Amino acid sequence: MQDISPSATSLFDTRPWRRIALSRLDPVRAVPTMLSETEQKLYYWLTRHWAAGRGAIVDLGCFAGGSTARLALGHAEAGLTTPIHAYDRFTAQARVKRRVLYPQGISPFDGEDILPLARELLRPWQAHITLHRGQIEEQHWQDGPIEILVMDAGKTAPDLDRMAQIFFPHLVPGTSLLVQQDYLQWNQPWVAVQMELLADVFVPRAHARPDTVVWECTAPVTADALARAQVEDLSDEMMLAYLELAYERFEGWNLGRRIDTLIRAMRANPGQRAAHDFSRRP
Ligand SMILES: C[S@@+](CC[C@H](N)C(=O)[O-])C[C@H]1O[C@@H](n2cnc3c(N)ncnc32)[C@H](O)[C@@H]1O
Repeated sequence: MQDISPSATSLFDTRPWRRIALSRLDPVRAVPTMLSETEQKLYYWLTRHWAAGRGAIVDLGCFAGGSTARLALGHAEAGLTTPIHAYDRFTAQARVKRRVLYPQGISPFDGEDILPLARELLRPWQAHITLHRGQIEEQHWQDGPIEILVMDAGKTAPDLDRMAQIFFPHLVPGTSLLVQQDYLQWNQPWVAVQMELLADVFVPRAHARPDTVVWECTAPVTADALARAQVEDLSDEMMLAYLELAYERFEGWNLGRRIDTLIRAMRANPGQRAAHDFSRRP
């Protein structure tokens, strides 16, 4: 069993997932994903080489199962038996089907429901996977500790707050990882703001291009911490102040330019708290 002592977390420093041959992911090639190749390797590595069966693997925003499949492949190869829970509303509009699903080999189909498709694509790993359909902010978590929490669904500030309230208290200090897939996504600056508000609880460990940042949970996420970390009602000025802190933190990671884009996006889209309302890209 791996332990996440400082020497274990330094595992991240050499970014070993980057040396994984893409062919290792051949078994999941048929499962469409929006993840970059580097992110796909990271997800696989996290369950194949880092996870040690200390809690559930949770994937918030799994779309057709792409991220879940990469996590499940590593999980299976590592011989883990912990549950994998994947959440999504499991719908895809015609535009997304055309842009993402069909170019990755899915045959054209009628309607927007992609739950049957996700079930079929994830069949090889179904023994450990539970799919949850619906709005994630309306879900509950009652399945014990979470070892890895992957987030790709905080598309609005209120949704992000609610997802944090539901899932973060089940992360285990010194053990759990939070994978923020949208951390550097230009039209979701509230993700970086929330992580600054939780700076005493999470420490960044790795960046995977283009947008993912992996965080280690280092202290319990208490009700007080969550109350302090609410982003929905922050003024633009407060949001910008926390983004400046993110800039300072990540400048040394060579990510200053990316955080600067979040800052400029926030300034260009005053008062907006939903990704789809960010119409001005800096
Ligand atoms: C960028 S996609 C996820 C991509 C996926 N992780 C992959 O590997 O391809 C974001 C997903 O989050 C889902 N989503 C966003 N907000 C949600 C919410 N509030 N409740 C449920 N699903 C949500 C969308 O339906 C979409 O499938």
